Amino acid sequence: MNSSNTIIGKSLKRVDARGKTTGDTLFLTDLKVENMLHAAPVYSATPYGELLNIDTSRVESDPDFIAFFSANDIPGENQVGVIIEDQPLMADKVVRYIGDSVGILVAATNASAQRLSKLVDVQVQPFQPILSINDSRDAIQNFLHESNLACQHQVKRGDIEAAFESADHVIEAHFETPFQEHYYLEPQGCIAQLTAEGGIYIIGSIQCPFYVQKAVAKALDLPFSKIKVEQAPTGGAFGGKEDVPSEVCTRAALAALLLKQPVKMVYSRRDDVQLTSKRHPFQMHYKVGVSKEGKLLAAEIKLEENAGAYATLSSVVSYRSAMQAMGPYVIENISVESKSYYTNLPPTGAFRGFGSPQAAFGHERMMDIIATELGMDPTALRLQNILKVDSHTLTGQHLTSSVGAEETLRTAMEAAQWNDQDISEDSRWKTGYGVSLIHYGNCLGAAGWFMDGSGVKIKVHRDGSISVAFGLIEMGQGALTVVNQMAAEALGVESSRITILPTDTEQVPDSGPSVASRNVVMTGNAIRNAANKLSPILKEAAAELMQVDLREVNIENGLVSNIRNDEQMSFTELANYLYLSNRPMDVMGWWHVPELEYDAVNGIGEAYFTYSYATHIAKVKVDTLTGLVNVEKIWASHDVGRAINPSGLEAQIEGGTAQGIGWALTENFKMNLGEVLTDNLTTYLLPTAMDVGEIESIIVEDPEPEGPWGAKGIGEPAIIPTAAAIANAVSQALGKPMDQIPISPETVLEMIEN
Ligand code: MOS
Repeated sequence: MNSSNTIIGKSLKRVDARGKTTGDTLFLTDLKVENMLHAAPVYSATPYGELLNIDTSRVESDPDFIAFFSANDIPGENQVGVIIEDQPLMADKVVRYIGDSVGILVAATNASAQRLSKLVDVQVQPFQPILSINDSRDAIQNFLHESNLACQHQVKRGDIEAAFESADHVIEAHFETPFQEHYYLEPQGCIAQLTAEGGIYIIGSIQCPFYVQKAVAKALDLPFSKIKVEQAPTGGAFGGKEDVPSEVCTRAALAALLLKQPVKMVYSRRDDVQLTSKRHPFQMHYKVGVSKEGKLLAAEIKLEENAGAYATLSSVVSYRSAMQAMGPYVIENISVESKSYYTNLPPTGAFRGFGSPQAAFGHERMMDIIATELGMDPTALRLQNILKVDSHTLTGQHLTSSVGAEETLRTAMEAAQWNDQDISEDSRWKTGYGVSLIHYGNCLGAAGWFMDGSGVKIKVHRDGSISVAFGLIEMGQGALTVVNQMAAEALGVESSRITILPTDTEQVPDSGPSVASRNVVMTGNAIRNAANKLSPILKEAAAELMQVDLREVNIENGLVSNIRNDEQMSFTELANYLYLSNRPMDVMGWWHVPELEYDAVNGIGEAYFTYSYATHIAKVKVDTLTGLVNVEKIWASHDVGRAINPSGLEAQIEGGTAQGIGWALTENFKMNLGEVLTDNLTTYLLPTAMDVGEIESIIVEDPEPEGPWGAKGIGEPAIIPTAAAIANAVSQALGKPMDQIPISPETVLEMIEN
């Protein structure tokens, strides 16, 4: 609509900053509805077994007890699996993990709901639980579902046999990465209530309102049109509120429907940690053939993932980790097999990166092991094989633009003074530098292409203010602010005119899930589409009012002018005239990811429409006396195509990097026979400001032609390279390969001693 570039690239202050810092923003726990009841989940305390009976006799006489509902009370389908239909909304025959919900208990107060839910006697005839990937893969009976293989994806390209033959070196290594708990500060929660039309209205702390709508429709046998899902301000998600709220909200909705009273359900922290999904642990085997000069010739990669009791988002995790398994390098001959196995542990699913941080740990440790074997500098090995414009990815995808991999490596190396490392030797503290490089496929990719579209609704009010509804959500990442900026830019108005509405399934078409770092790309393009529809209406009205030709109208920064005589009016006047002249004042915008050519059988072709790239360099000091690893500094260079809001972007990079540091060093998720032991912040150690050291963000802008104003995603790329960079740095410091995380003081001391 206008040619200026006034708001894109500016660090607009976060539009939600005030409410969130003053406490004026009301989160789910703050919300109350008249006559509201409280619910809590009732679940199995046995990891695997046949459900014999649920005995509620101990709670029924309690004055606060209202009701208990189980699978028998579900009017529709007892099924909540988001991709694979393997997960009952409430277990009725078999329980498959400690936390598998068999019912929902409703009480007069939240405290009573929490207390009474633990007194229901869930009687289970136990089976021998399967607790590891190896036991699941090797089992010949007692399968969790039809088989123990939840899903798999593969890449088969070139001729690996011949390429291994021709290689000067064939190097093998094994890597393992652990669970990670999202530990969003706000636990799962929602309020469900009946509407006047006999439908359901849900407000909740959720990432994917349209997933919730679909889940409620299925279980309660209601049409989508009778289910309204609204997102409450959400205190963190990181993938943990992608599909889990579908079960939380649907159970609360069932209780509300049957009791005809509003029902609020907020998980206690302990329940949240025990019941909800986490990051998949991976076992990875890499076999890579290289020439003596360091050219990658062949790779055979086996990734195995612990899916837990239900598949949830495992399919996305196995797909993405396969598509990115050898990183941002040219390799013509490759075989990748990525398989997710069921176990009797809490389900694993979506977590920032969908398997990418795990695969990055594999390929980036592998690159360092190869460099060590060849006696090469790790960055030289990477530079020699790095993806550029006109290269093909490991899936054979031809890259034609926006390939900033090399630029991120060079800028990070320069900032870290890689070639002049500051390694002051000391008998106790050992210094190490480590590098890690990644590519990240934006949006849902070929496997999810059918649902990779998003919408917005833009409404101009007669006073010149503008409301924007979008189908994705704010979960703490800064979406409201960048959506505001992109709408202001596309419409040619000041950002202060714009209000971004809470996401609501009734406002916009199903826009798919708020995942895969897709908000800026999807919503930005949908906004441009809406602005292209609104522009002729606005210009026609302005031309009529100013009595000029509509090609002479310019709308910029809230001012409407005609270029012939410089006459001006404010956007407010134009908006009022729009109303007075009976013109339409709202438009819908839509964007869908371009078509992808992909062969799913061999995993060859366009896995994603574009990629973000990043390099992290970590400098660590290892205390050889205590085994403690101190991250002194991380240089984090990211190709984001175009920075819409640089300070928001830096915040994303810092947050993701800190979360990567936690996964690598401090977060040691522990279970005993399926029971989570680390269910609070004194045992599950999130990194604090004292643990993350200094993070220097470097922004590389290699514009993506399909991205809005050239932009690509940042949310997930921020965490993906970090753990491998730290492990590479510790390996360098100790002169020994660190092939597992978390790198606890114990593992460091053990490594030093052996
Ligand atoms: Mo995220 S793993 O894209 O919900």
